[in-house]
Amino acid sequence: MQPIQSVKGMNDILPEEIALWRFAEEKAREIFQRFGYSEIRTPIVEKTELFTRGIGEATDIVEKEMYTFQDKKGRSLTLRPEATASIIRAYIQHQMHVKSHQKKFYLIGPMFRHERPQKGRYRQFHQINVEVFGIDEPMLDAEVMFLACLFLREIGLKEVSLEINSLGCPNCRISFREILQEYLLQYQESLCPDCNRRVYKNPLRCFDCKAPQCKEILSNAPLILDFICDSCNRHFQEVQNFLRELNVEFIINGRMVRGLDYYVKTAFEIVTEHLGAQNAVGGGGRYDGLMKDLGGPDLPGIGFALGMERIILLLKDSAKLQQDNNQMIYCVLLGDRARAEGFKLAQKLRSEGFIVDLSYEDRSAKSQMRTANKMGARMAIIIGDDELSQGVVQLRDMHRSSQWVVEIEELVPELRSILNES
Ligand code: HAM
Repeated sequence: MQPIQSVKGMNDILPEEIALWRFAEEKAREIFQRFGYSEIRTPIVEKTELFTRGIGEATDIVEKEMYTFQDKKGRSLTLRPEATASIIRAYIQHQMHVKSHQKKFYLIGPMFRHERPQKGRYRQFHQINVEVFGIDEPMLDAEVMFLACLFLREIGLKEVSLEINSLGCPNCRISFREILQEYLLQYQESLCPDCNRRVYKNPLRCFDCKAPQCKEILSNAPLILDFICDSCNRHFQEVQNFLRELNVEFIINGRMVRGLDYYVKTAFEIVTEHLGAQNAVGGGGRYDGLMKDLGGPDLPGIGFALGMERIILLLKDSAKLQQDNNQMIYCVLLGDRARAEGFKLAQKLRSEGFIVDLSYEDRSAKSQMRTANKMGARMAIIIGDDELSQGVVQLRDMHRSSQWVVEIEELVPELRSILNES
């Protein structure tokens, strides 16, 4: 019978990678807490309308990439392609603006987009997501970007750069839309079929087109940054000033428009040259009208999301962290009595808080030691019937290749002192 494979673009995360995932997730939680964020978890499935309204009908995500299906009652549901709309939905639904003082949230979890899978791009992927509601001060924009950069630096990723842009407010957008449309329509015949549609529906989206002829045309297109109103411009200048004060390096990229329609004013991406085509480690920005559009109070918002798989690819490359069972003890059990007593001893050590594994099968000493080695165990306890009758075991320091005899009574304090040192 053919074995069943996972769904294309949806990957298992195997035990040898988990250390990296946990390292990144735990670091994120620790840093977000330092900045006053609280964790929120929302369902993976939402009503489709949340995303069509939230992300925008004319975006690639909504047009082509959502996993949408009907439930048994014929309601249209969607696997979340991003978390911002869901977090806002939860904030409104639980009336958190009146019932709670909490304004800063983070969410870590899987997202789903039906894109063509390739390195760094998957159909189920994971994001570390941050959102802040109710504050429109430029100071916060800078702090949010500082937070994203600090997190990446603290997990050891230094070769990333922050690109920023201002997408203006809806008013700036209306006049710019016409200017851009007019420019693009001059080249209508050369634009790809997708951009031909985008010109009318959402011309800003053309900036993200990968078709060479469109890229060429867009390279000379007018940039929204040159057309934003005074108030948006002031906001953007202040954001830059705060970034400088926080020593955050950045590049202004007037062509960066982001793939979701909700952004206004500040938009940013964190990119790297080490991921090939999928160069964005994360992205975010301000979305001041979104909460109102989703039926909530008119509160501004800003946030970002980082792609976990891309972070893990970079961490693996930078070989910053190797899985190391630095605290693991492996019990090598030789003989029938040793197997029975060693089994009990292993449970006792586990209840004392040690990380312990053992050979459940009756195998040779050599083969058990090989397993201990492969697992990267720090210590081996070698228990034989003869030693047991004398109330002792052999203790082996796998890192230092030294071995000595220890009385069973002394085992716990001895292990504790060795493992605490390392
Ligand atoms: P986004 O730019 O669509 O923004 O996604 C953020 C990050 O998620 C990307 O930079 C990338 O690292 C990762 N990512 C996106 N799609 C994939 C994929 N198919 N496979 C692997 N990784 C992927 C958002 O999702 C916004 N909700 C961010 C945000 C939060 N803006 C404001 N608040």
